[in-house]
Amino acid sequence: MMEQRRSDGSLRHLITLEGLSRAEITALLEHSQRYVCAPGAMPPTNRALAGKTIGNLFTEPSTRTRVSFELAGRRLGAEVLNLEVQLSSRAKGESMLDTIHTLESLHFDAFVIRDSEPGVVAHVAAHVAPHVSVLSAGEAHLSHPTQGLLDALTVQQYKGPDFAKLCVAIVGDIRHSRVARSAYEVFSALGVGELRLIAPAGLMPAPGEFPAGRRHHSPEQGLRDADVIMMLRLQKERMAAAEIPDGAEYFARFGLTRPRLRLARPDAIVMHPQPMNRGIEIASDVADGPQSVIRDQVRNGVAVRMAVLEAVARARPGPR
Ligand code: NCD
Repeated sequence: MMEQRRSDGSLRHLITLEGLSRAEITALLEHSQRYVCAPGAMPPTNRALAGKTIGNLFTEPSTRTRVSFELAGRRLGAEVLNLEVQLSSRAKGESMLDTIHTLESLHFDAFVIRDSEPGVVAHVAAHVAPHVSVLSAGEAHLSHPTQGLLDALTVQQYKGPDFAKLCVAIVGDIRHSRVARSAYEVFSALGVGELRLIAPAGLMPAPGEFPAGRRHHSPEQGLRDADVIMMLRLQKERMAAAEIPDGAEYFARFGLTRPRLRLARPDAIVMHPQPMNRGIEIASDVADGPQSVIRDQVRNGVAVRMAVLEAVARARPGPR
């Protein structure tokens, strides 16, 4: 695994949540909570990253993650640039690092990277100058650490800090989901009481993955008495054409409808990382219903990314 810490143990990059202790995660969530802003209120800002320059390098589509990293950087006083780059083109090989080194010469301090290929984020992290940090904004199907943190923050806001009493059900295309993998890591680290994986056989992760998760092949079984329901989009971009389930059939068997939601605890919360496919993995009235915390997740995304950007930032020598 890529070492994401400095020699003093502090976090320099954030590529995965693997290896983060419960105390570190709790501290990040506390820090994030200070940046949480009620709808309509003036968002908190400060100058913690004044003078820093952050580059967003996304080679996969993104709305929430890119915009919230951008806002997070700006609200801390940093300059944030969205760069059009081709990161993972293997044919270009070293040209990816040339781009990164060019940006380093332009005094970038951090890169936020989303890429469809495993390993690209860590590869960049391994080759940047010592003062530069690299943050994952989603790596292939493998990890999405800031999403994991914002999901944990959202759960904590509604359910309190004692994860041991919670039953979390993750529903849908778990096999291809980086959101599910990071959720698993963060909820495991926080000591969640029970974790259920609900998916058709073809969308279950490989045996051995998600070792603490209890596998269920129907929502009727898996949703009973759940406290938290995390719905996932079908990641069609990671499936062969023949594997893609029929939308209507999938909704009939796995879609989160009001009757299915009633199987969970009456105060269960419904989450979705978005983008949502209404009428495929979730019914519109559930997505917009009183138990949905989907908009909180988006709001928390900015707060978590502010905390993470601040956590990895270090002062560097001023101009000579
Ligand atoms: C997710 C992603 O890109 O992994 N979106 C997000 O960042 N909120 C989920 C998805 O694409 O389904």
